[in-house]
Amino acid sequence: MTHLNANQSGTPGTPKDTSMKPALLRFRRITVAATLLGLLGTGAALAHGVDAGVQVEVVGEPSWSLSPVYHILMAHFPVALWMAAYLFILIRCLSDSEFAVRLQKAVWPLAALGTLAGFVTYGLGLTIYPWSAITESPLGRNHIMLATWTLSYWTVMSVLGYRFRRHLYVGGQRWITLALATIGAIVITITGTLGGSLGGTPSLVTESLSWIGWNVYMTFYLPTWMLVVYGVGTVVLIAIGIVGRRRA
Ligand code: HEM
Repeated sequence: MTHLNANQSGTPGTPKDTSMKPALLRFRRITVAATLLGLLGTGAALAHGVDAGVQVEVVGEPSWSLSPVYHILMAHFPVALWMAAYLFILIRCLSDSEFAVRLQKAVWPLAALGTLAGFVTYGLGLTIYPWSAITESPLGRNHIMLATWTLSYWTVMSVLGYRFRRHLYVGGQRWITLALATIGAIVITITGTLGGSLGGTPSLVTESLSWIGWNVYMTFYLPTWMLVVYGVGTVVLIAIGIVGRRRA
């Protein structure tokens, strides 16, 4: 039995068909796989869409909304992609092996894809309830607040990953990268667990937040002096950046 690969022509003796470059072939395969996954996801969402989610009786002005299943389905993508990026960063920060260096090359694409999926998830989250309804609930506000932090944070992480690539893991810099990525992993974990609590399935993570003094079912208040700390921190960080750039 003979096996023909994509670059071989069917007739023995004829030259190989090199018109399709490997990059194009890979792109085609990824597109087909992504389309199939998308169709599968849409099918699953539609199948679960009937009678799914919280049954709400709309009182007052009718408003346009989408079933929560789309948001819930989509939320898995940023969570999985960002956590995979974190895992790869963790491995790379602890090892200089060839395997770790290979994983490191996948970090910024994973973070960037996660950010893209994060924007879609965020948008779908906004379509579930009217803004005035979701912001009535302290838990809803906390979920939105954490989602906004998480999305902004990973957007910056993606840009940093793309811009600095391997330099993020040189010398002591790797520990700063690891610390930043750990914050990213923590904020997405809290966003997800608050979402689960909103849907009526609180996890141990939600409960453990009360151990550090945060009751997620109440409005999140920041002491006014923290705003001053934020302002000073922002100025100091910008100054460090300017000084560092001049010295480089
Ligand atoms: C990066 C952004 C976001 C992520 C990663 C995220 C993640 C999640 C997760 C993991 C759940 C729980 C799913 C489950 O029960 O299995 C959830 C639920 C929910 N999220 Fe988000 N979320 C995001 C943004 C938002 C935004 C911006 C809103 C609203 C303005 C929102 C509104 C909701 C609501 C209402 C639920 C409960 C749905 C239900 O089961 O009825 N989310 N979210």
